Amino acid sequence: MFRLSQTSLFSKISVWGGGTMGGGIAQITAQAGIPATILEVSQDRIDFSRKQIEGSLARVAKKKCDGDATKMKAYVDGIMKNLTWTTDEKQAADTDLIVEAVIEDIKVKHDLFARVDKLAPKKTVFASNTSSLGIADIASVTGRKDRFGGLHFFSPVPMMKLVEVVRTEELSPEVLAQLKDFATKVGKVPVVTKDSMGFIVNRLLVPYQMEAIRLVERGVASIPDVDTAMKLGCGYPMGPFELCDSVGCDIIKFVIDGWHKQYPEEPLFKPSKLLDDLIAQGKLGKKTGEGFYKYDSKGKKIE
Ligand code: CAA
Repeated sequence: MFRLSQTSLFSKISVWGGGTMGGGIAQITAQAGIPATILEVSQDRIDFSRKQIEGSLARVAKKKCDGDATKMKAYVDGIMKNLTWTTDEKQAADTDLIVEAVIEDIKVKHDLFARVDKLAPKKTVFASNTSSLGIADIASVTGRKDRFGGLHFFSPVPMMKLVEVVRTEELSPEVLAQLKDFATKVGKVPVVTKDSMGFIVNRLLVPYQMEAIRLVERGVASIPDVDTAMKLGCGYPMGPFELCDSVGCDIIKFVIDGWHKQYPEEPLFKPSKLLDDLIAQGKLGKKTGEGFYKYDSKGKKIE
């Protein structure tokens, strides 16, 4: 077994997949002063990723620099210097830590990790940001199961303080400590969870969201009233439907369909016609301009 020293740090990282989650992970890494490379599949995707990160950094800068335009520009430019984009897997593999944030498709992840396992140096630690697939299953195609853990961030990554650090049976205690240390360095609070379906947050959150949808399907209350109830009654920052639109209705459907397939008798995991119909119409939430609610071009809810 290849052993890393307990104190060795990740001094450069790469994020495979520069979408909403991957871009957010690279952004907070850069904000922490750690150089990050984002691997994407095309120049179009790179342009999208860069634009998304610049937009998010501008919001961070606005607060940090009290709206002073010169300081804000300097702040954004300074962080952007820590970020590099590439489509070259070999270049992106030459790093201390790889965080994978590509689509939730086990075949895509298996193909990717089988390739990168051959390209990356022995010392490189692998992590997946999957929210619904098993880490040990993803790691099974690699020869470094002791150096393969889960780093599950939350959306929007620059704002949410939590990271679930997923511990498989084979993950070495040294690497677990390093992954926790990395989460802390990028400004998050790590919690350790076993490699169990949905880990902690999604195992609780997704059934709650599905129950909210079923409640509307039964005619108990309207979508806005359920959201208002959970915000004002429980102090949640968003209601279950607002959150579904924000994360992506397709993501929630993907998770629940996968769990339903595994546990068809479990009523909490039953699919919903309301959600399925929405997705069939291409209404995936904020990202498509409509989900349970409608959004303007800036992503603001149309009341
Ligand atoms: N980047 C940088 N800053 C951001 C940001 C982003 N992407 N999103 C929000 N902000 C900051 C900005 O400073 C913003 O101020 P400006 O308007 O000046 O830009 C400030 O947050 C407030 O944002 P908003 O006014 O847009 O809205 P808000 O007050 O409701 O706060 C929120 C936004 C922090 C996201 C809050 O609504 C919240 O905490 N929502 C719950 C999110 C949640 O539950 N996430 C978990 C999802 S589950 C998941 O991710 C798991 C999975 O695997 C699917």
